Amino acid sequence: MVDLPSFNLTTTPLTGLTGLDVVALPVRGGGSAGNGAGNGAAEGSGPRVGDADAEVARGLGIDPEAVLELQKAKGAPGETVVIPAVRRDAAVKSVILLGIGDGSPQALRKAGAALARQSRDRARVATTALADLEADAVRAFVEGYLLAGYRFSRKSEPPESVDQTVDLVVADPGPYQEAVDRGVVTGRAVRLARDLANTPANEKSPAWLAEQAELVAERAGLAVRVWDERELAAKGFGGLIAVGMGSARPPRLIELAYQPDRATRKRKTPHVVLVGKGITFDTGGLSLKPREAMVPMKTDMSGGGAVIAVMSALRDLGVGVRVTGLVAAAENMPSGSAQRPGDVITQYGGKTVEIMNTDAEGRLVLADALAYADRELAPDVIVDLATLTGAATLGLGRQYAALYATDEALAEALLTAGQASGDRLWRMPLVEDYRSTLDSDVADICHVNRDPRMGGGSITAALFLREFVGERPWAHLDIAGPARADADADEITRGGTGFGTRALLRWLEGLG
Ligand code: BES
Ligand code: MN
Ligand code: ZN
Repeated sequence: MVDLPSFNLTTTPLTGLTGLDVVALPVRGGGSAGNGAGNGAAEGSGPRVGDADAEVARGLGIDPEAVLELQKAKGAPGETVVIPAVRRDAAVKSVILLGIGDGSPQALRKAGAALARQSRDRARVATTALADLEADAVRAFVEGYLLAGYRFSRKSEPPESVDQTVDLVVADPGPYQEAVDRGVVTGRAVRLARDLANTPANEKSPAWLAEQAELVAERAGLAVRVWDERELAAKGFGGLIAVGMGSARPPRLIELAYQPDRATRKRKTPHVVLVGKGITFDTGGLSLKPREAMVPMKTDMSGGGAVIAVMSALRDLGVGVRVTGLVAAAENMPSGSAQRPGDVITQYGGKTVEIMNTDAEGRLVLADALAYADRELAPDVIVDLATLTGAATLGLGRQYAALYATDEALAEALLTAGQASGDRLWRMPLVEDYRSTLDSDVADICHVNRDPRMGGGSITAALFLREFVGERPWAHLDIAGPARADADADEITRGGTGFGTRALLRWLEGLG
């Protein structure tokens, strides 16, 4: 919603730049201001400022070693010591000693996020933090900066915003320009996913989501197709119809298709299908949610939002594989026309499902989209993302998504992409012994296990979805935990997080 800052790689030293509001000088060090592996430095090593940076600081009247010692700073990733100017005629308004830990991508993601928070509403920012880092750390810094600076507002007086430039002082921009560009494209995509998730549900119907996808398709050079409720009913998308029929705002299936340019295309281009849960609001339906549980449910389309966001960035990132994105969009409302527990519906492709609990709506809309992908699109691999179960957050908490996969290589590739990108995934088992709890007396399958005391709700949901992907390599990300945050932390901002966008883009970039 706010204009993005622009990043300039420059070889001009800090002392040659004028009119700066913020100068950030990197501090290497240890400490553990963070999570994830590889953030710390060797035990016992104190914070360290490079010679050239110390020189710059002294030129501004600051003794950096003394400041770090007095403030008990450690150079931990994302740690900031802000030294405000105390004279009106000072060359810069504030100098920030910015902890970059061991200089790893994880550390620089935090450092970028911290700097963005400290330099909000400053027009000119410059830093030497990236001077001699690997390209991946540069990309992580840019992404951290763009994501921490994200804001969403529907205030009648929009928050003040300034056009911001960030000068990144390096010895040789050559190896870094691509990393900065990829970071910007990725950051913009995640921000789009956040905007979609944070948009209130009174504005956000399935048809609205489809319109947003159409706008993205136009900008990003994608083909787009939208099924309305009449076409969905005619073609047998029984899950989307059943979930959507309680709402005055009917369901949609959205299909976005990306074909790589000829230059980037591989000889035999694999075809990836991404599927996202697009519940624009989840009341639970007649199996109504309790009051507090319903509050955050405008973000129940986060998987679908991430799919749209990923699709928006493929061409700019030069992804070399074919990608089709499907968003199964519906609003889950209780009403005189809503589906009931005990109903039996027919999913796309013909499987019948006994409805146990209308609050387990996500898997019904996903099943249609997965079966459609399997039968009509013949992909080489299918990956779905969904805010599917509260159960997924019980074991893993709010910072990891649960990953399920029928293919080992696919699972490994996604775990690696997740770790590198900042969207962290943890593999969970598809426990065969639990499959029988979905057996139904009247239909082909129940969508929820009969015995609520057995636990494993995220696993049984995944087992249900697996029934609809045929023999295709498939992975499922249950993102109910990390799709939304209750507080700002590092690059994460309160509300929708855009989770999954970064991991999937990283994975697709690696495919070609
Ligand atoms: N959208 C919810 C899952 C969810 C819960 C997402 C909390 C984010 C935070 C999903 O549709 C749902 O209601 N799942 C039920 C499944 C149950 C009825 C089998 C759940 O998790 O309770
Ligand atoms: Mn639900
Ligand atoms: Zn839901």
